[in-house]
Amino acid sequence: MRLLVTGGAGFIGSEYVRMTLREHAEDSVVVLDKLTYAGNLANLESVRGDPRYRFVHGDIADAAIVGPLAAEVDVIVNFAAESHVDRSLEAPGQFIQTDVYGTYVLLEAALRAGHERFLQVSTDEVYGDVESGRSREADALRPRSPYSASKAGGEMLVWAYRASHGLPAIITRGSNTYGPHQYPEKIIPLFITNAIDDLPLPIYGDGSAVRDYLFVEDHCRGIDTALRTGEAGCDYNIGLGSEVSGLEVADTVLAALDKPAALKQPVRDRPGHDRRYALDTSRMRSLGWEPRVGFADGIRRTVDWYLANPSWWRPLKSGEFWEFYRRNYRRVTE
Ligand code: NAD
Ligand code: TYD
Repeated sequence: MRLLVTGGAGFIGSEYVRMTLREHAEDSVVVLDKLTYAGNLANLESVRGDPRYRFVHGDIADAAIVGPLAAEVDVIVNFAAESHVDRSLEAPGQFIQTDVYGTYVLLEAALRAGHERFLQVSTDEVYGDVESGRSREADALRPRSPYSASKAGGEMLVWAYRASHGLPAIITRGSNTYGPHQYPEKIIPLFITNAIDDLPLPIYGDGSAVRDYLFVEDHCRGIDTALRTGEAGCDYNIGLGSEVSGLEVADTVLAALDKPAALKQPVRDRPGHDRRYALDTSRMRSLGWEPRVGFADGIRRTVDWYLANPSWWRPLKSGEFWEFYRRNYRRVTE
């Protein structure tokens, strides 16, 4: 299979590229990535010399770049997105541009190229806040942040291209993902890198909101399983099935690094903070996929990776990072 992996220089996309080249000897991969603040070529360093891999610097919303690339490949796997809820509260425009308009450009290119598969990487956040029970794929989408609304918008275009044009597209809805190479703005890499430097861990509200944290390798194996064995036209939830609160994340990270509980710092809650996401993953499991890495094991591996790779994350925590950090946590503490 010849794959176009968009957003392949990001956290999950780069794991997917490394995994594909390692596990599918016949496959080739073109990465298209705009290299936003979250994109990082260091994530692809280990595959740089592989003749089956090529990197293209560009925007998924640019049809002049996407069209010719789509014609060279068999399938598009779309990871490219603006992906951070807090940034979407401050500046939603780029989320709409990439997550909605960019998805449209990719769908149109896939259709014109006659692709027999398209995979849209989406998120459990499109279901919105789930008070009780577990979200199933047929449930209504009720996004509540500009980020999740932009991801739901991208999904709806996928649905439209399936229904109107018969595009054989698959959507995966993964839960909160963590592991090596994650930009230190999401809770787990932020808390690990702050704790290493004895900086406070900012906990929104009372820290009781829960997420289903999924190790990045499990998420990527799920996407790959859906791509290769899933049914065209189907949506697939991918999650571990655990419910871990913000306070538990902080306690687990502090314990793993042997740091004091006093580093936990309550800050004002995020506006519109979704209290809980929870997925029913039986459809994914019926394809033979199941997660392999539990939360405790995954956190240990992730902490060890950040301890061993300061040269990867230290340069990221400078300049623009701290400007956003100050604005974001001032907004939430005022
Ligand atoms: P990330 O922010 O680490 O990476 C996004 C990548 O997309 C970056 O390399 C960035 O440069 C690139 N990109 C952004 N805009 C682009 C554009 N217009 N054109 C080309 N490239 C562009 O994100 P991630 O955490 O790796 O998430 C990847 C995908 O998985 C996203 O679609 C996200 O919505 C989804 N997802 C993420 C999580 C999570 O917890 N991180 C969970 C479920 C689903
Ligand atoms: P985050 O990693 O931003 O992912 P998302 O909001 O997309 O689920 O946040 C995960 C949870 O952690 C969420 O309940 C908000 C909380 N959180 C904090 O308490 N403090 C923080 O500094 C961050 C970034 C998140």
